[in-house]
Amino acid sequence: MTPDLPRHQGRDRRPDPAALVYRPPRPAELVDCADIWHAGVSDYLARLATQAPPLVPGPFLELLGHLQGTDPDRFLVAVEPAEDRVLGWGAATRRDHVWFLAMLFVHPDVQAAGIGRTLLARLLPGGAPGDVEPGAADRPGRGGPPGILATCTDSVQPISNGLYAGHGIVPRLPLLELVGHPGPDALPELPAGIRPIPAGGPGPAEPALRAMIDAIDRRVLGYAHPQDHAFLRRSGRSGQLFLGPDGAALGYGYASPVGRLGPIAVLDETLTAPILGHLLRSVQPRGAFACWVPGVNDRAVVALLRAGLRFEGFPSLLCATRPFGAFERYVPIGLALL
Ligand SMILES: CC(C)(COP(=O)(O)OP(=O)(O)OC[C@H]1O[C@@H](n2cnc3c(N)ncnc32)[C@H](O)[C@@H]1OP(=O)(O)O)[C@@H](O)C(=O)NCCC(=O)NCCS
Repeated sequence: MTPDLPRHQGRDRRPDPAALVYRPPRPAELVDCADIWHAGVSDYLARLATQAPPLVPGPFLELLGHLQGTDPDRFLVAVEPAEDRVLGWGAATRRDHVWFLAMLFVHPDVQAAGIGRTLLARLLPGGAPGDVEPGAADRPGRGGPPGILATCTDSVQPISNGLYAGHGIVPRLPLLELVGHPGPDALPELPAGIRPIPAGGPGPAEPALRAMIDAIDRRVLGYAHPQDHAFLRRSGRSGQLFLGPDGAALGYGYASPVGRLGPIAVLDETLTAPILGHLLRSVQPRGAFACWVPGVNDRAVVALLRAGLRFEGFPSLLCATRPFGAFERYVPIGLALL
């Protein structure tokens, strides 16, 4: 159950974070997490005279289910034990050497009491404040400590940016949201010899195709994340692999029937605009196309603007303890999953 106190009452009764229970959510509590996300985003965007995006429960709960499925020990709720109320929550993923904070939200009625800081400390590798020594995160490896701690924040949110930067997770890259209805012929066709093939619909992708996607991810992002590609296929994004004349995979890209573009990864950045053009022509979304593009991926930014998409809202920030990934050749899945 989420808090439903009147605002002033809630502020007066801010709980002691040390008195809360921090544990994985029960299945029914994922709905509470979604409600807290929406309350949190609405609260701070209202102060900026900006409307929060609507909560679309189905896809949001699918995303939370995926985060909990792949990283059950990295999804925690903060619960007031007397009334068994969820007051806040956070979820992180570990993909090879990269630890990534997907989301951290505390109900507006109980913010600024230390709950977010406590949740973060328990989610960080080591699980307790002070465990992440400067330099301790510099040892890459699968089983050991992650080499990189990262997250995406809203640029207009000083509290979260301050909280994460205090742990060395500092803003490094802007992520620009581009939204709109592209002109069908605004972007170039694929060059001669580049062949698109479906990279798997809702069912399992061919093992050989999966291996090619993983190899591209290792070269572009620095790690493979097949579990996230499986989630994308389950949730209806359709992927295409782009093969060169010799059959070698040069990139992949996804588009969804609701217009979400990404992830997109290319080995040769001159393929960015034609692959975007191919993806934009491959689906007729019900609404507008939308994606988050790293500022350093200038080819994608320029191509999408030329195609008629427009910047929307304010940028997000990719924050990390140190640089990683060739984001000049990547468009992420979204802000909660790279
Ligand atoms: C961001 C959020 C999770 C933080 O949780 P919280 O329980 O309110 O925060 P806490 O009280 O634990 O800690 C806030 C910390 O932020 C830091 N902080 C706050 N404002 C800051 C600023 N302007 N600059 C730098 N640091 C700042 C402080 O270090 C503070 O901790 P301290 O005073 O104890 O040292 C919560 O406020 C929230 O859910 N906000 C709305 C949703 C949201 O924006 N989520 C993140 C999306 S990017």
